[in-house]
Amino acid sequence: MTDSLQFLVRRNLQAKSDAERAAILENPGFGVTFTDHMVDICWSEQGGWHRPRVQPYGPIELDPAASVFHYGQEIFEGLKVYRHADGSLHTFRPDANGRRMQASAARMALPELPVSYFLQSIKELIAVDGDWVPSAPETSLYIRPFMFAKEAFLGVRPAKKVAYYVIASPAGAYFTGGVAPVSIWLSEHYSRAGKGGTGAAKTGGNYAASLVAQNEAYAEGCQQVLFLDSVEGKYIEELGGMNVVLVYKDGTLVTPLSDSILPGITRDSVLMLAEERGLRVERRPISLDEWRRGYENGDIVEAFACGTAAVITPIGQIKARDFTIGDINAPAGELTMSLREELTDIQYGRRPDTHGWMTRLDA
Ligand SMILES: Cc1ncc(COP(=O)(O)O)c(C=O)c1O
Repeated sequence: MTDSLQFLVRRNLQAKSDAERAAILENPGFGVTFTDHMVDICWSEQGGWHRPRVQPYGPIELDPAASVFHYGQEIFEGLKVYRHADGSLHTFRPDANGRRMQASAARMALPELPVSYFLQSIKELIAVDGDWVPSAPETSLYIRPFMFAKEAFLGVRPAKKVAYYVIASPAGAYFTGGVAPVSIWLSEHYSRAGKGGTGAAKTGGNYAASLVAQNEAYAEGCQQVLFLDSVEGKYIEELGGMNVVLVYKDGTLVTPLSDSILPGITRDSVLMLAEERGLRVERRPISLDEWRRGYENGDIVEAFACGTAAVITPIGQIKARDFTIGDINAPAGELTMSLREELTDIQYGRRPDTHGWMTRLDA
């Protein structure tokens, strides 16, 4: 196997004009518009990874019997490209996303894409669609690599034909009116992932399982949902799309240790920054009761959610049927906000990258 692939590039003859693209980039929202191109690489049991292409963004034709439609054998990733002040384009810890995609593939009986191909696929897309990376503060180009079973076969077994794609979508600032604490609904009836299940993999089924609880959250006026462990219903796990960190008054940060949550790259990075400040970090099971008591007696002073999309979001309150933890009107925590600033400064090139986290894509 070679370290790099020879991509065939087919340009989109209907690519957006500069003016059309500029109009989209002025107010991109999140996940609603897409760049002019996409990448795809095929995999088959006999041929391995082959036919790497950059081609015009557009619909994918699949056989109705393709097993992804029936058995959900699918994984994905999410990372961002940031435009620095000098116009250069950078992404954050893409090797970590590449390795996590391999771990997800292993759990979902999909082939593992070499990390070098993962990185190259993003570079190839940026080579043709780099102009789609917005430059306004806190904006980015969100990159969505994904892989699915495309073999047309209705038996239940791992597919022998698989496709890997990368698409990209310009993303506006998550918080337009300044960072505001969010309200989180506690899911008491629905679990996201079970013991021995797929919770640690970034696979569509976990998100499908979360949607009914997410609907409950919306109905309760909350923006996100918090899941508990599925065995005892006692320990906090994570939100539908973000990890959770609590801050004790002595500055200790605690985050759930569980094999059924997604190991977030944002969380890992933030905790590393906290440790460098001399703060203690604990990765261990955390009961909901610990959070509730800790908030009530003043030991737990901040809580935040973290993930690629919103970076760090202060948690104002947890709302359950019979009780509430926190106060939605309290200001965002100081440590939360300063860690958010440090991380986004690194991502946007406003502070030196002393960890080697950033990868330049346009050079
Ligand atoms: C379920 C879930 N947990 C946590 C995260 C955070 O992961 P990361 O920081 O790598 O984006 C995500 C993705 O953003 C997610 O979908």
